[in-house]
Amino acid sequence: MRVSRSTTVVWTIIAIGCASASRTAQAPASAARAPLGARLTADAPTGAPVPLRIDPNARVVRSLVPNLPAATYWPAQADRGERVFNGTCAACHARAQFIGQTFVDAWNDRRVSDFYTLIRSTMPVNDPGSLKDEEYLAVVSYLLKANHAAAGTDSLAADSGTVRGRRIAVKAP
Ligand code: HEC
Repeated sequence: MRVSRSTTVVWTIIAIGCASASRTAQAPASAARAPLGARLTADAPTGAPVPLRIDPNARVVRSLVPNLPAATYWPAQADRGERVFNGTCAACHARAQFIGQTFVDAWNDRRVSDFYTLIRSTMPVNDPGSLKDEEYLAVVSYLLKANHAAAGTDSLAADSGTVRGRRIAVKAP
């Protein structure tokens, strides 16, 4: 018997239709996994929306540079930095957070510029980058002093050897 071309097409369409209908009705048994199409329901327990600007679990690799000379602080710059720290940073941070063993463990043998870049681009958390470069540099200088770096005669300057070519080498009291 001769089956017309249009009949074949009709049967093919019905077959496909049945296959997809049964796939929707039951859990798919085939190897190809259907997309989950996941959506949050209205009462999903997600809590308040969290701003993405700061991820407390994010970790940045900051290379160790143990061969660079140790950074020193310049007293006048450090004094200015202490005023900036007290006027801005202390609103959210206890001094003990950045002065002592925690700071030593986190930052020793890292480039001064890595620390400077971090605070300049992320702090204060409510208005990152809002201070002048010199104010961020002064805070770095103050933290070097407060963590018992040696005093020196150079002030820290952005994009200079004093921040790029020196490492943090401090100690806890
Ligand atoms: C409005 C509050 C606020 C102010 C002001 C603020 N910070 Fe922060 N700072 C935070 C919060 C919150 C975190 C924790 C975010 C995180 O862990 O990523 C943080 C984290 C940090 C860190 C740790 C970052 C790391 O990855 O280890 C440093 C260093 C820091 N602040 C320095 C400063 C300095 C220096 C100032 C002043 C110029 C300052 N902060 C001002 C809220 C503030």
